[in-house]
Amino acid sequence: MITRRALTTLRRAPLHRALSSRASAVLSALDLQSGRELPGVYDGEWGGSGEVLQSVCPTTGEVLARVNTRAEGDVSELVVIDLTLDASRLERLDVPRGESAGSRASPAELERALERSREAYKVFRNVPAPKRGEILRQIREALAAKREALGALISLEMGKIRTEGVGEVQEFVDIADYAVGLSRMMNGRVVASERPGHSILEVPNPLGVVAVLSAFNFPVAVYGWNLALSLAAGNATLWKPAPSTPLCSIAVTKIVSGVLERNGIPGAVAGLVTGGKDVGVGVVESKLVDMVSFTGSEAVGRQVGEAVQSRFGKVLLELGGNNAAVVMPDADLDMAVPSVFFGAVGTAGQRCTSTRRLYLHSSIVQAFLSRLESLYQSVRPGDPLDSATLLGPLHTRQAMDIYHNAIERLQKSGAEILTGGAAYRDLAAPLDGGNFVMPTIAIPQEVDVRDPLWSTETFAPVLCVGVFDELEQAIEWNNGVPQGLSSSLWTRDIRNVGKWIGPAGSDAGIVNVNVGTSGAEIGAAFGGNKSTGWGRESGGDAWKQYVRWSACTLNFSDAAPLAQGVQFANTA
Ligand code: UN1
Repeated sequence: MITRRALTTLRRAPLHRALSSRASAVLSALDLQSGRELPGVYDGEWGGSGEVLQSVCPTTGEVLARVNTRAEGDVSELVVIDLTLDASRLERLDVPRGESAGSRASPAELERALERSREAYKVFRNVPAPKRGEILRQIREALAAKREALGALISLEMGKIRTEGVGEVQEFVDIADYAVGLSRMMNGRVVASERPGHSILEVPNPLGVVAVLSAFNFPVAVYGWNLALSLAAGNATLWKPAPSTPLCSIAVTKIVSGVLERNGIPGAVAGLVTGGKDVGVGVVESKLVDMVSFTGSEAVGRQVGEAVQSRFGKVLLELGGNNAAVVMPDADLDMAVPSVFFGAVGTAGQRCTSTRRLYLHSSIVQAFLSRLESLYQSVRPGDPLDSATLLGPLHTRQAMDIYHNAIERLQKSGAEILTGGAAYRDLAAPLDGGNFVMPTIAIPQEVDVRDPLWSTETFAPVLCVGVFDELEQAIEWNNGVPQGLSSSLWTRDIRNVGKWIGPAGSDAGIVNVNVGTSGAEIGAAFGGNKSTGWGRESGGDAWKQYVRWSACTLNFSDAAPLAQGVQFANTA
């Protein structure tokens, strides 16, 4: 929230300061020009008059979005200011960094968006599924046409490197393709009835309004997984993105709503409400929302789960990951070392699926670590928009604190810091305003999976290494933490594979062999077990959660017998 003092200072500030050319090129490619009001709410119409949000570039600290604010409780004091500020200035203005852009949903706007979603659902549920698929096909085409531009925006606003930003848009394109096919395959079943002249149908119908609360680290793809399935299933979807990545959500919503409008479909079929916690709580608690799909931390996920459950809504949770790679003596290190490097350092360690724990067989520890260490030391921080960069920034200043706390905890416990362990200093401008930290390999004194060193998810590039002698020991460590998202075994021995994927194997939702923990394709259901929340999104049978199932018993006969042979006639 912007304070009154800050507002006064803002008024005195120059009305316009140009964005860097680096940022303005990315924004203008998506028609997000500076100099215009940037509404953060879409329910068929664009709006937004809640509190101020900022979008801060994690690479440079530059504020990317225009500020458009209304003095709280005083409509006459409506102020529309268009300016950009550098980060240090922002701090002086008491505007929290990473707290995000544009104008977000006020309580009244949120209520209206929820109601419009409900109305849109009532229209959309009657559109035949293959026709919904045709709309998805057009969305897929529209997204693909903006693949590069949107990928660059993700890099700019979230901080991941460009190839990963583009890859994220590709993930949305892929799931849209998948959902086009699905729109002709969301089949129910005919079940044999025990009664003559009866038939039982299991029928999937549209569920209602699906709210998607997405995280900053995948500001486009995770919404894409949900939107594609939800739309194919005939629902209205209301998106509440992370408060620090509003530009990505606005750009995507513009693309999707353009397609809906061209097809005469109510825009609120794919609505958007940007905002902070208050907006999230409003969505989660609303009875107008049938299912909440939440991606984020275990702590917030627990609150979301309880709130939705307490009103008997449906909930789909994708929470923390604390993913391990296990390397056996027979592993091909030419594959395993670069894969672990990508898993731990890629996206600066900010995927739910990032590799955070590395369990090495005692016979290959030295060989593995010396190769891994030289890869770590070769990596340089850079602008994620530059195609040569492998290491971008952390998303926010708060994430840097989390990184520093984790390093401090490791050091206090006597862990050896093999490489990394600090933020980069003395980077040349404009990277000196960014959140760059060194990827870190740590060897704690022992593997104790109940110790927070091992049992908590640190959303930063910190990899903890442990040494084992038997696969069974490594599996026990793999499974010993609360989370259960992804896991990866490196071996050429089929017997190890059997153990790893079998009943006494990895208990994660993603159980890979000679494939890293991150970078899953969309075809299989994506999600994790235990404190990761048991949710499944994307491919596989995930679509079945986005519909309401009815068991319909039909009687075509002239008698009305009861099941199980029960007699209920008065024979006296
Ligand atoms: C996430 O980190 O929230 O498997 C999603 C992966 C990506 C998705 C990650 N396809 O790493």
